[in-house]
Amino acid sequence: MKHLRSLFDLRIDEFHNIIHIADSLKKNLGNNERPDLLKNRTLALLFEKASLRTRVSFEAGMIQMGGSAIYLTNDVGWRERETISDFVRVLAEYCDFVVCRAISQSTVDELAAHNALPVINGLTDQSHPCQAMADIMTMREYAGDLKGKQLTFVGDGNNVARSLLKAAAICGMKFRLAGPSKFHLSDTLADRVKNHFGSLDFQQSEDIASMVRESDFIYTDVWTSMGQEAEAKERSVLFAPYQINASLMKLAPAHCQVLHCLPARRGLEITDEVIDSKSSIVFQQAGNRMHLQKGLLIWLAEQNGMIAGHS
Ligand code: CP
Ligand code: NVA
Repeated sequence: MKHLRSLFDLRIDEFHNIIHIADSLKKNLGNNERPDLLKNRTLALLFEKASLRTRVSFEAGMIQMGGSAIYLTNDVGWRERETISDFVRVLAEYCDFVVCRAISQSTVDELAAHNALPVINGLTDQSHPCQAMADIMTMREYAGDLKGKQLTFVGDGNNVARSLLKAAAICGMKFRLAGPSKFHLSDTLADRVKNHFGSLDFQQSEDIASMVRESDFIYTDVWTSMGQEAEAKERSVLFAPYQINASLMKLAPAHCQVLHCLPARRGLEITDEVIDSKSSIVFQQAGNRMHLQKGLLIWLAEQNGMIAGHS
């Protein structure tokens, strides 16, 4: 059974195919066409953490395709009332897919290990694959082929950065991370990405200016992710030199676009002036979460024999 536990679950051609389906669904929607591609199908959303974009974009996407979504939080009692194994086997009796936003990647992996229904990672401590795929879709809308383009991630080497590293390797982008060395990505991950996808153009440094100067895209995320609130004060000091603000943007090429997965802490990692500027594509980026995930659901439905191939 095909799942999306992380981007390591996809071959390069599969990654591009999902974006291709998403592009075509987005075009259909622009023409007010909402084909019932997942009629009567049900998606469970099992969330251990807060969400606006991931939750609502999956729910709206399912409704647009003729299906429905059921939002589940801890009150369904998984783990406390029954094992993950029993839980997921029962869930599969009612639902066709599950998106899980989990505190730990191991939860998503354990859900998928039962092969009871296709499992989609809706963010974990380690990764955020739907976000990174929607980000690639968005950057392609601006720049076409991304091969050789530079994506500079400024800030914490977190779940979003890890998925973007993989996505950049898949697309042949240069990936740069500028941030305090304590929060850099591990060599182990970089080696694994290189081995898995065949190549990787990656550097990380504390020197933000040199990386920003060469950027086609600059990306940032919160300095303190969900679950790290106890470290917020220390992080706000360490990351202060890495704010995306107007004076930093003066160093970047004129064509450079700014991304943020949102939610943003305006005034910390990014200023109002930049996030609301013409260089910012953050709202298109958020919008593409829905189109991308519709493409992913269709692809998973095809791969798992629920529907015939998408033309
Ligand atoms: N970017 C993102 O995943 O947003 P939510 O946390 O609101 O889902
Ligand atoms: N890194 C952030 C992303 C939120 C979409 C977090 O994990 O909280």
